[in-house]
Amino acid sequence: MSPRCDRYAVIGNPIAHSKSPRIHTLFARQTRQELAYDAILVDTGTFAQAVDEFRQSGGKGVNVTIPFKQEAWELADSRSASAELAGAINTLSFYDNQCHGDNTDGAGLVRDLVYNLSIELKDKKLLVLGAGGAVRGVLEPLLEQKPERITVANRTSSKARELAAHFASHGNIIGTGYDDLERRPFDVIINGTAASLQGNVPPVPEACVGRDTCLYDMMYRSDPTPFMLWGTRLGAGSCFDGLGMLVEQAAESFAIWRGVRPDTVPVIRQLRSEMDGAAEQ
Ligand code: ATR
Repeated sequence: MSPRCDRYAVIGNPIAHSKSPRIHTLFARQTRQELAYDAILVDTGTFAQAVDEFRQSGGKGVNVTIPFKQEAWELADSRSASAELAGAINTLSFYDNQCHGDNTDGAGLVRDLVYNLSIELKDKKLLVLGAGGAVRGVLEPLLEQKPERITVANRTSSKARELAAHFASHGNIIGTGYDDLERRPFDVIINGTAASLQGNVPPVPEACVGRDTCLYDMMYRSDPTPFMLWGTRLGAGSCFDGLGMLVEQAAESFAIWRGVRPDTVPVIRQLRSEMDGAAEQ
């Protein structure tokens, strides 16, 4: 690889286990693009400085992950409409002395659900769990699919209600606490909480899961997440983790930077087999 090839990076904390460098390397190989992609660990309070240093050293763009997506939003000179609304940015592009921000998380989620997994969202009842940064980034692209309604449920119910009010002009959306959820099966339940990271499952009433309900965890692991195991136990129609979303949001970023959208299916398959292989070792 030429030492002067275009450079990109993912910035976050923690970052050691990030799959983004692997994903972008596979994309670059597939599309015959010459680029380098690193992972940069940044301490709290030094995000803007780290971005500036990377940019000054010739970097063309960065992906931003936990916990800096909101800071990235503040840092950007300009933002896409959906990033503007989300209040969070996962993709920064540097050109013409500008720092432009996008949020590709929601497009990645929708693409995985609709194209890869063939899950219909139009006219469906969606339940989205959580009201943090991860959920903010996906609500508008989900609403664009014209579901019958999105219910956002959160432990702190006021945050769910605030979020629903923020997105209300984009579709039919309500916010609630878990206790007040209607006891009827939803079509799709998307887990955007941090509960899986702690090995927990959000306290969703079991009646919300029916045999046609599809469960999607925005988190991924080599083995099923606690949320997926919970859904399987209740007889849910299907349960998926968020590996496809991860690859799809990366593909959206790659397309913004490089002008070409990679074929994601072989990359998702490759990562899944690498994760399965690592789990067996
Ligand atoms: P992120 O940027 O990953 O979304 P965040 O903004 O800290 O992180 O939000 C974490 C989300 O997970 C919140 O919706 C949080 O609920 P609260 O707002 O009530 O704190 C939710 N969450 C975290 N742990 C949870 C758990 N054990 N059960 C249910 N929800 C949980």
